[in-house]
Amino acid sequence: MAYFEWGPDLVIDNGALDEDHQKLVALVNELHTATSQGLGHTVVAKVLSEVVLYTQEHLVREEALMAAIGFPGLAGHKQVHDRFMADMRDLQQKYANGSITVASQLSSKLRDWLSIHIRRSDKELVPYVKPKHPRRAGVA
Ligand SMILES: [Fe+2]
Ligand SMILES: [Fe+2]
Repeated sequence: MAYFEWGPDLVIDNGALDEDHQKLVALVNELHTATSQGLGHTVVAKVLSEVVLYTQEHLVREEALMAAIGFPGLAGHKQVHDRFMADMRDLQQKYANGSITVASQLSSKLRDWLSIHIRRSDKELVPYVKPKHPRRAGVA
């Protein structure tokens, strides 16, 4: 069983957002492997910077999508993203400065945050990204 399992309850749009989220899940698993197998600082730092970079890119893409579809919760959602990125950068900095204990916190923090954030907050996008079917006459 993977450290972070993808599941049907994480599905948002059957498209670009899910692809991003799946890639993040894979990166968190990679980070977990790197830290739990005691791979060197250089390897972990490299995987970590990939995760942080991809997370940042994803959040920006998601916010652009929200703006494009007129999602009313964009401002609040963006604040949550910004706080999370600040936390991640802080942990990344601590790891770069030699705090070994930070390594194991990184993958668990990312996994917990992503799984809760996608299931609760990103889920609010579902009604906005669903393909619209024209109503047929006589169907409520
Ligand atoms: Fe997301
Ligand atoms: Fe989000």
